[in-house]
Amino acid sequence: MIILGINESHLGTVAVLKNGKVLYCESEERITRKKNDVGYPYQAIEAALKATGIKKEDVDFVAYSCQFRGPEEFKIKRMTTFKISDYIREMYEYWKPILVEHKAPPPFWEKLMEEERFKHPGREYYDFSFLKTTPKDKWGEVFDQERIKVVVKHLGITPEKVLLLNHHLCHAYYAYYASPIDRTKKTAVITVDGEGDGENATVYEAKNGRLKKIYGTGMCNLGRIYRYITLLLGMKPFEHEYKVMGMAPYAKDYISKPVYDLFKKTLVVDGLDFKWKEKPSDLYFYFRDKFEGQRFDGIAGGLQKWLEDILVEWVKNVLKFLKVDTMVYSGGVSMNVKANKVLAEIPKLKEFFVPPSGSDESTAIGAAYVVSVDKGEEPEELTNAYLGYQITSAEIEALIKKNKIEGKYKVVRKIKNKEVAKLLAKDKIIARCVGGMEFGARALGNRSILCNPVNFDNITLLNERIKFRDFWMPFTPSILDYRVKDYLVNPKNFSSPYMTVAYDTTPLGRKHLKAATHPGDFTARPQMLTKEANPGYYDLIQNFEKLTGVGAVLNTSFNLHGEPIVRDAKDAWHTFINSDLDGLLLNDTLIMKQ
Ligand SMILES: [Fe+2]
Repeated sequence: MIILGINESHLGTVAVLKNGKVLYCESEERITRKKNDVGYPYQAIEAALKATGIKKEDVDFVAYSCQFRGPEEFKIKRMTTFKISDYIREMYEYWKPILVEHKAPPPFWEKLMEEERFKHPGREYYDFSFLKTTPKDKWGEVFDQERIKVVVKHLGITPEKVLLLNHHLCHAYYAYYASPIDRTKKTAVITVDGEGDGENATVYEAKNGRLKKIYGTGMCNLGRIYRYITLLLGMKPFEHEYKVMGMAPYAKDYISKPVYDLFKKTLVVDGLDFKWKEKPSDLYFYFRDKFEGQRFDGIAGGLQKWLEDILVEWVKNVLKFLKVDTMVYSGGVSMNVKANKVLAEIPKLKEFFVPPSGSDESTAIGAAYVVSVDKGEEPEELTNAYLGYQITSAEIEALIKKNKIEGKYKVVRKIKNKEVAKLLAKDKIIARCVGGMEFGARALGNRSILCNPVNFDNITLLNERIKFRDFWMPFTPSILDYRVKDYLVNPKNFSSPYMTVAYDTTPLGRKHLKAATHPGDFTARPQMLTKEANPGYYDLIQNFEKLTGVGAVLNTSFNLHGEPIVRDAKDAWHTFINSDLDGLLLNDTLIMKQ
């Protein structure tokens, strides 16, 4: 059976599931080169069908990972086009009149739809003409029919094959079936995100490979509060929450404590429930007033500590309620690797897994899993995340020819990992664009910039000359599986192959991973790499280990600041020539700046 899973919200994404196995998964942004591209992922679907050789008429089902969507944010492509100033404008012109002044909703979205920069000719796949002819209270209903129509028309299938699925159900199925846990074991499956289909946290119980919903709520406002604090700190909601998390470890306790205490007076855990102790009128103006005069790092630190504490309390209650010691976790809040670290440390938890990129892009896979299970299949776990576009030798040769690279640059074909490792050992910074592209937010070696993790100066070099990143953001290591115990404090031997959980580091870890740990608290967000997951990358790091004794490399995503991760040879070249990278590895062809 062939199932397409589609997510339209934060990162429009398609996944292809064939007989229970994920064959392909890619987000629209990688092709359109528009970061966080939302809406119907038309081009990603075309790419997925081409790569898998599946014909449109062979698709058995299409599963969307949300039942109800409002058309406004898709019409203007809010998450793709909004700047920080637009989110602030939304607060003042839309939410303040409604939530603070208790007035009727103003025509804010209608106004934006008329602005040129929110029009997307050529990339607008839904038919939005109903917005002019339908009363506003019917927009959602009509748009959900339009969502079905767009894929029916694109693939030439019947509407009966298209399903709109509950959002958190898709998060939960992804968490469970993508994870390598023993399916005979009773397991807690939890999801926490900003919001989807009226919920922001759920608990499922998994028994003998089947999920049963135990609890769902729209009251877990953790993701939403984190989002609004991100905006208050002058960063972009839905995108820069990780920067707030990255700032948090720099805050001293005495700076963050007053903020933490203020958060403690708001949302609290009550059994499996969440409730307001003091209910804010809204989540932006309320906290803006409360935090006036608090320092930026204290706000980040207080928020992060509060998030961690509240999640730990809730998860302990969930484990007790279900009488389980095994848990899997997904949803946007599962991207918070520091919170995952404290969850992993809950003494009762014996097994814990967070699959890659738990934000909405992974619900494309989750939606496909839901249908697969419903039709009697037993989906396979994910064994790696290299599910996207495969770079080809033909495009590499065409790139070299078109850009007259030979002569201007040193080009070495059929280069061995041993030679690339030598360059890394000499502190060269090499971008690796090899084989299949990772799906999701983390580069896991195939679309990565790599360098020697021992050299602390590499942080400044990467931040200022290559990635143009914010100065406080840490880098991360890819660690050979047999070196994990040398570098990380991991008493329960949890596996974390997708950079989804942070760990404390050992003294040797701090020495060898000096540039790939957080300078504020010396934690690392590792990719624990096995040979099976990526033999070529594993071999490269083993060669680096032979030369240096270090069983890891610093790995940061291969992109320029604000751009999506590179997809193909053309994107890789664009990034290479617009940065101070020393070398570019395209499959087994190395291009070096002279
Ligand atoms: Fe979600």
